[in-house]
Order: sequence, then structure tokens, then C-alpha cells
Amino acid sequence: MENVINQAKNTLEKYNQKSVLKLFNTLDEKEQETLAESILRVDFDYITNVYKESMKKLDVDESGIEPKKALVKANMTEEEKEVLYALGKKVIESNQYAIVTMAGGQGTRLNHKGPKGTFKLQTINGEKYIFEILSETLQRANKKYGVEIPWYIMTSEENNSETVKFFEDHNYFGCNPNTVKFFKQAKLPLLSENGEVLVGEDYKIKEAADGNGGMFSSLRREGILDEFEKKGIKWIFSCGVDNILVNMADPYLIGLALNNNCEIATKTIIKDYPQEKLGVVCKKNNKVKVIEYTELPEDMANEINEDGELTYGEAHIMFNLFSLKALKESATYKMPYHVAHKKNSFLDENGKLVDATQPNSYKFEAFIFDSFELFDDIAILRGKREDEFSPIKNATGVDSPFTAVKMYNEYWSKDREEE
Ligand code: UD1
Repeated sequence: MENVINQAKNTLEKYNQKSVLKLFNTLDEKEQETLAESILRVDFDYITNVYKESMKKLDVDESGIEPKKALVKANMTEEEKEVLYALGKKVIESNQYAIVTMAGGQGTRLNHKGPKGTFKLQTINGEKYIFEILSETLQRANKKYGVEIPWYIMTSEENNSETVKFFEDHNYFGCNPNTVKFFKQAKLPLLSENGEVLVGEDYKIKEAADGNGGMFSSLRREGILDEFEKKGIKWIFSCGVDNILVNMADPYLIGLALNNNCEIATKTIIKDYPQEKLGVVCKKNNKVKVIEYTELPEDMANEINEDGELTYGEAHIMFNLFSLKALKESATYKMPYHVAHKKNSFLDENGKLVDATQPNSYKFEAFIFDSFELFDDIAILRGKREDEFSPIKNATGVDSPFTAVKMYNEYWSKDREEE
């Protein structure tokens, strides 16, 4: 054990982690062992590099950014729609399609103890969990196309076992368990403002999920990209866990990607108001890019075009389709990390717990849409908010269970003819 503790101390010295090094000397042997083991699991080369790179680009470089319009589904002729529908339907019916639901987030804003998908809603169709609604959406698609679409659910270290148990306890809400697979995304250490790792009350290095852009490397690490290859899966749809109106098998989106010869397609809706918390699809240096709402400069968010609409109003709704080729390329791409300034309690160098009252540390997240820049063009289809997007983000107010259920109820109270 002596050896492990020395190794950990050497690592801390090498990477100039002075506070944790001092903290070490205030701990008893058992605590030192726990901390040492946790330190030796951290890839300090990687995280110090992430810190340096991320600190360079805290501001969005606005040069070369232009708006990008989507193809509006509502403006397409019946013939145009039929072409896309037929192309997409063929992909689904021939078992070339899979779904990844990203459920690794912490869901802090919702204030729900447990994975977001385990949140219960009161709908006109009865009491339903979010995961239950997604399972039903999937089973409707399975029935419609006569297939069993494989469903992959991305969890995190923190919520994986609870998520798996939840599905087991609910008999997978009627899905065939052999077609549902869980995989964990990776974690990254949280860092103090001067780039040092933080230690929690459990004497372990504090870490958090590496953002939804971690999906690509996690799929590769877990052998799922190889599995796709073996199963002949060519198109993979990726969505968030928090949209209860998500259409998990949209033949039009697949058809558009094929028709436009694109490796990626994304569905958008129009932003309701400039400050709505949605990323916006635009072009930068002629490539499609999403600027996240946390990074969109205010003047750009408010800008109005000659038609009186928001210039940057084409919103990303986590409704993304990737070819297997796109997933493979993204999995080896060095995704940029976005920095979030967060409040985190930690043990200081004297072993005292510092309770953060304001943001005091950095969390690093890769964003799924940063993979778009790997390709010259991606297909963009604009859908209708009332049919596609009913997110659950906050406990109350906008994008809350209340607003989401209202939209869900409105959607399901209409006579739903199969499209
Ligand atoms: C996200 C999008 C935003 C979009 C909005 C639509 C990103 C970075 N942002 O914002 O552009 O307009 O949804 O609703 O994609 N997740 C993980 N692991 C993580 C972090 C998140 O699986 O480490 C999952 C969450 O469980 C959730 C989804 O990614 O399903 C969205 O995550 P969240 O961080 O809540 O993004 P938003 O801020 O809502």
C-alpha cells in the first residue's frame, strides 16, 4: 500500500497538484489509501491537456458564422415526402436501424432523485414513467415496420445500476430484453479554477460524466460499433431521454440523409423566443455547426432577418441520425470540450470541507453535435414542435413535467392516423 501512496504522491507532484498533495498529509492511512487509489485511476496527461485547451477558447469565435436553413417538412409536396418515406422505411424494415437514448445526464434541473427516465408523469394515457413512454414509442415503431429495433441506452457510472434495475423491475415495459442494451459513458475529473483535481468527502477524486458527446467513444469502447457492423446496422438514431414526443424511428429523416448523400441528419424546430434554451443550427466556414444556447452571444440570439424571424432560430432538439461511418469517424475524433463553471464542495488542503456558495470549479463536457464538423454537409429537416418536441428539463415553469404532459396530452388527444 505504501507503494500506491508514494506513486500517487509522485503523480500529484508531477502534475503540480499542490493542494491535494498537502491534503494527503492530513489524512489517516485508510483515507490516504482511498485517495491514492482514486488518484491512480485519473489520466492526468489527458485532463491537464483538456484544461489547457478548454481555457484557450472560452469565447465563441463569431467569424465565419452564417445562418443555415432547414428543409421544412410542412412545405414539401406529397411526392417529395413519399420519396423520403420510402427510402427511410426500407432501412428500418431491413433491420439496418438502431436507436441510442442518451440517459447519462444528471438531470439536476429537474430535482428528481434517480435517473431522469424514472420520473413519473400523469398523462391522459395514465401514469407513466419517461422510460415507459419511450418504450411505448419504440414498440409502436416495431409493430408498424414489423421489426425489433435494437435499443441502446447510454447511462453513467452514477445511474447505470439504478437504470438497469428499473427496466428489470418493470419487465422492460414490454420490450424484448434481448434487444435492449445499456452502456456507460466515461467520466472526467472536475477541476478547480487553477486546474487542480478536487477531492470529495469520500476521499475520492470528484468526477462527472463527460457530456453527451462522450457517446461516440463509449460506443466504440463497449464494442457496440463492432456489434452494429456485425448486425448490418447502417443508421443509428440518437436522442435525449427527456423528450416525451420524440419519434424514435422517423423514415423521413433517414430518407433525407440518403437522398442528400449525407452521413448525418438532424431534426430542428423553430425557436419560440431568443433566449429559449436550445442550441442553434448554423454554418461556420461553410460547415454545419450547432452553437449551444450557453455559448450563443446575445446579439446573435436576438438578431432578426429580413423576414422578421430570428436569424439564428433553427433549433437543435437532440434528434440526430448518424450513419455507422459517421459514428466510427466521430469515435476517433478529438472532440472539443466545453467548460461549465459549477459549484462543487470539496476538501481543502487542511482537510476541511469547503461548501461552494458560488461557482468555483470546472466541468468538461463534449457535445454530440461537434461531430457535425467532420462532414462537409449534413441534412437538416425542420419538423413541428407540437409533434416532435416536449422536453422535461426543469422542475417547474418552462420545459417542466407540467408543460411536457400538456403537449403530450394534446398530441395524443388528436386522432393519430399512421403517416
Ligand atoms: C441539449 C442540447 C441542446 C438542445 C437541447 C434540446 C447538447 C450539448 N445540448 O441541451 O443543443 O437544444 O438539448 O432539448 O446536446 N446527457 C448524457 N450525458 C451527459 C450529459 C447529457 O447522456 O454527460 C444527455 C441527457 O441525459 C439528456 C441529453 O443528453 O438526455 C441532453 O442533455 P442536457 O445536458 O440536459 O442538455 P440541454 O442543456 O438540455
